[in-house]
Amino acid sequence: MSYQNEYNLSRNEPTAFWEKQADNIQWIKKPKTILSNNNEDNYQWFEDGQLNTSYLALDYHIEQGNGDTLALIYDSPVTNTKQQFTYNELKHEVAKFASVLRKKDIKKGDRVLIYMPMIPQAAIAMLACARIGAIHSVVFGGFAPHELAIRIDDAQPKVIISASCGVEITKVIPYKPMIDKAIALAEFKPTSCIIFQRDLIEAKLLAGRDYSWAKLMENAVEAAPIAVNATDPLYILYTSGTTGKPKGVVRDNGSHAVAMKYSMKAIYDIDPGEVFWAASDVGWVVGHSYIIYAPLIAGCTTILFEGKPVFTPDAGTFWRVCEEYKVKALFSAPTAFRAICKEDPNADLIHQYDLSKLERLYLAGERLDPATYEWLQDKTKLPVIDHWWQTETGWAIASIPYGIEQKTTKAGSAGLATPGYNIKVVDSSGNELAKGEEGNIAIKLPLPPGCLSTIWKNADRFKDGYLKAFPGYYVTGDSGYIDSENYLYIMGRTDDIINVAGHRMSTGEMEEVISNHFAIAECAVIGGHCPIKGQIPTALVVVKNNISLSSADLEVELKLAIREQIGPIASLKAVYIVERLPKTRSGKILRKTIRQIVDGEEYQTPSTIDDPNVLEELQLLLSAA
Ligand code: COA
Ligand code: AMP
Repeated sequence: MSYQNEYNLSRNEPTAFWEKQADNIQWIKKPKTILSNNNEDNYQWFEDGQLNTSYLALDYHIEQGNGDTLALIYDSPVTNTKQQFTYNELKHEVAKFASVLRKKDIKKGDRVLIYMPMIPQAAIAMLACARIGAIHSVVFGGFAPHELAIRIDDAQPKVIISASCGVEITKVIPYKPMIDKAIALAEFKPTSCIIFQRDLIEAKLLAGRDYSWAKLMENAVEAAPIAVNATDPLYILYTSGTTGKPKGVVRDNGSHAVAMKYSMKAIYDIDPGEVFWAASDVGWVVGHSYIIYAPLIAGCTTILFEGKPVFTPDAGTFWRVCEEYKVKALFSAPTAFRAICKEDPNADLIHQYDLSKLERLYLAGERLDPATYEWLQDKTKLPVIDHWWQTETGWAIASIPYGIEQKTTKAGSAGLATPGYNIKVVDSSGNELAKGEEGNIAIKLPLPPGCLSTIWKNADRFKDGYLKAFPGYYVTGDSGYIDSENYLYIMGRTDDIINVAGHRMSTGEMEEVISNHFAIAECAVIGGHCPIKGQIPTALVVVKNNISLSSADLEVELKLAIREQIGPIASLKAVYIVERLPKTRSGKILRKTIRQIVDGEEYQTPSTIDDPNVLEELQLLLSAA
């Protein structure tokens, strides 16, 4: 079938389309109701179906006779470790750990927080939760204890699972002190912590609360997967919103499994037994969907890579992994390839490896700039596919669905609407714009299977944040346009979210941290341009009168505050002390204009500005800096 036919079918007959896709997974109770709308715009898929996601990812393949197929490859250049798990072996570990969780009183619907480096135990813990109907919430290791504490208070996990340490290139980072600090900061107190002790560091365990993963696993027996409702949550994944409080995106079991299975073939054109590598982290949505769930539900081999694109040990590491495991498709963020390009501009390292099995490169997480797109295409001679998605959607909204039709890619474009997504570009009043005109990107409801069902314990935030602006549509927070051939171009966010090295960060949250410093009267954080990380946080601060702190000391203290309260991944680049911030007459900070001035771009003085002289002062300050 052509892309256009498949897309039209998904749009004109969504119920029939997704009923057919739902037939491709093994249900415990097959759904009779495909799409329902129980209140206002809250749609649900497969509401009367029952299934188990861990069964689909593991047991099902074993029952089909594929127990000896490789399920997961762990490759860790930072610890010189390689390990492989067949479906039989992975199921054994997962089922045992599921019974460990049961013994710690975890029941269906209970939350489990996972704060892990990129080791197989992270995947095992996630799948074990799914097996017994527990809801996992994975938190990226680069977040500081304060962020962890916010998530503990919101999700209220009975158990936290972690490891004694992570490794960042050559730095060993102890995780346990961060867990202890987060629990001390949080109001809600988990009853147990299960710690995987790595050879590099042995964490100190608190008697009565902390347990060693290995010890608990010693006598564990396998737990069977239980039936859960399609609409029961599989996980909560926190993502940055515009305020300091992250949003707990809730993903259900049933529609997620259907979307994951569909996408593996439709978008990535990967068949069972083939090797797919998403070089991301399990702490992000890409890790959830394409390191763990989709490849395993589809019966493929997935790779869990504990390293960086560069310096572990060099910029050839991605290509080494692709050669070694015969990777068919590689998925990573543009920032990773920009880092590789910086270290290996002439692709000398690429040419050292046999990449004959590698067929395509997929990129997402931030805009794929044309220069990186062209460099990659030129050096690898492979199709380079940008695709656009969000933590909220869980899979690509726009893409080049290679498994349906091998449409051409275009530099700067994130591709065509993925079947299931009805994308519109609208103006601020919600009117659809003509082709080529830039505006807010919205998705007509219902969203396809796999997208968020709500925000954890905050249905109002879900409705207010996503559904209210344009009735009948989900608002993505991105702006862009669609060209005459229906290719979509993402131009940036319409809110205060920035993208640092493919990581989504809230400038509002950083402003909260900076404003809490005793010396600060007012501040604005913007995402300045960075050739490698895409954007990097830069702060403009107004200092209170009679503060004796030197500007250098203030900068050090503010950078430290961001690191300590949000995490090292937020890494503030620069702090500029200004007399006043550019604002509109109604007092709104002109962040876009500030960003343009910081980046040395041309800008237009907004007609709503309070005092145009502030912009000149800022320009003078930056040129002197
Ligand atoms: N645990 C603890 N600390 C972490 C961490 C983790 N999981 N991940 C990052 N950090 C720390 C780093 O050690 C670094 O600390 P430092 O400032 O003390 O050196 C800081 O956070 C910033 O890390 P990072 O953003 O990774 O920057 P970098 O300069 O170390 O590396 C890149 C730059 C481009 C190589 C790296 O950002 C990268 O690989 N990006 C790809 C991101 C990606 O795959 N995103 C997924 C979206 S699909
Ligand atoms: P996250 O929820 O962390 O996956 O971040 C989602 C946001 O990242 C989107 O709303 C976009 O702003 C940005 N993003 C993700 N993929 C792309 C892409 N391919 N092109 C442009 N922006 C992207």
